[in-house]
Amino acid sequence: MQESTSLDIRLIPTHVAIIMDGNGRWAEKRHKPRLSGHKAGVDSVRSVVETAREIGIRHLTLYAFSTENWQRPPTEVKGLMKLLRTYLESELRTMLKNDIRLFCLGQQERLPADVLSVLNMVMEETAQCGGMTLNLALSYGGRNEMMRAVRDLAGRCVAGELDYHALSEEMLSNRLDTAGQPDPDLLIRTGGEHRLSNFLLWQSSYTELYFTETQWPEFRKDQLLEAIAVYGSRQRRFGKTGAQLHVE
Ligand code: IPE
Ligand code: IPE
Ligand code: MG
Repeated sequence: MQESTSLDIRLIPTHVAIIMDGNGRWAEKRHKPRLSGHKAGVDSVRSVVETAREIGIRHLTLYAFSTENWQRPPTEVKGLMKLLRTYLESELRTMLKNDIRLFCLGQQERLPADVLSVLNMVMEETAQCGGMTLNLALSYGGRNEMMRAVRDLAGRCVAGELDYHALSEEMLSNRLDTAGQPDPDLLIRTGGEHRLSNFLLWQSSYTELYFTETQWPEFRKDQLLEAIAVYGSRQRRFGKTGAQLHVE
């Protein structure tokens, strides 16, 4: 794998999360069916995953399908699921070669059985890979994720295993789908909208946000490097003053 020399390694975010938006509009503008936008979007996924691994990002989270996306027309949902399955089947070799572990965030049980079995297979095969974790958010919603975690904690309190006075932010974090992974440093949204659309609501409390008009099918290596360069120019203060950061 080729190492990138132009980026300052200290300014590379550990965890990058991306809302891959704009496939449909990209296709519609070209008078093509929405699904052809999703297909072109898969090539962006390949390019971004490869680049992320190359430059040393350790966690990459891609929002591929939200809990709300189930409301789309059944043909689009079916097409997306089929694309997901073929993507997973075709990428296993590359993931193993590049030492990438696949992980899934969201309600996996809602996915069609054939997709779920390929997903489980790829997750198992890549479980020992340590170069980068690729999280696919599938049937994912931040509120749903938090509710599942809260229900789990409440159940333990009722069962007498936990004292509710002892509940902590850390305990909740440890029950989210991202348990054990750092919060995202940088969250990118393509497609021109300025909203989170139920993505990583808890985890992104101090994440740097980057919005671009570029539609997802046109977001490739150069666009990712540009977003990371902008991230590198930001000052993250976490509630402190700028002067405090310089003395620490
Ligand atoms: C993002 O592209 C992909 C998914 C949500 C699955 P969209 O399909 O939302 O594209 P636009 O926003 O309609 O252009
Ligand atoms: C967010 O995009 C979800 C994904 C990219 C998977 P949407 O297109 O579903 O978001 P809204 O509906 O414009 O907020
Ligand atoms: Mg959209």
